[in-house]
Amino acid sequence: MLVSTSILSADFLNLERDILQLEAAGADFIHIDIMDGVFVSNVTWGSSTVKAIRKLTSLPLDVHLMIDKPERLLDSYLETKADIIIIHPESTKVLRKTLLKIKSFGVKAGVALKLETSVDSIQHCLDLLDVVLFLTCDEGFGGQTFHPPTLEKIAQVAKWRNEKELSYLIEVDGGINPKTCRDCKEAGADIAVAGSYVFNNRMKSAIQELQSI
Ligand code: DX5
Ligand code: ZN
Repeated sequence: MLVSTSILSADFLNLERDILQLEAAGADFIHIDIMDGVFVSNVTWGSSTVKAIRKLTSLPLDVHLMIDKPERLLDSYLETKADIIIIHPESTKVLRKTLLKIKSFGVKAGVALKLETSVDSIQHCLDLLDVVLFLTCDEGFGGQTFHPPTLEKIAQVAKWRNEKELSYLIEVDGGINPKTCRDCKEAGADIAVAGSYVFNNRMKSAIQELQSI
């Protein structure tokens, strides 16, 4: 499994220190949750923070936009030189158009599905996707419990990938630990977002343990 370490569990006053530690510990990606207090009931950072993180690390940046109408702020996120930009179908009426714009800048485009969102909502744009992210907990906060019914949705999207000969990566986000990571891998996932598991344990061995799955 590839591991995208979530800085939602980092010390916000020591982000630089924590990101450099994640890099030294062998993380595959840095996962940055952008929350606007509207689409989800929490607020984190904006594009200027992503830009600053870009200067700090050469690890790929995996930016998960949990914001209402992401098309309004998209230009500022495209300027950050993030590697992956993920948006929610529930947050926009112009999903295909927004994904196409992300791709036109050479950035990998993804969609993220909340627990209650059906996989049918992305069927019309599978051809554009580099990443499908499944929230495996309620959105907005780290340290929550994994929601097993999502495994069926992961398996469905993995099946479509085979049937339609597509190559998007499947990412899981929320409540990831070695047990839930293994279940997701078996269902077809490729990338695991890990926040609290990595920050609450010895960082390097926690990352390696997940990577070995
Ligand atoms: C939740 C965020 C996650 C969060 C996961 O809305 O999208 O990325 O950081 O945190 P853990 O790994 O602690 O469940
Ligand atoms: Zn996330």
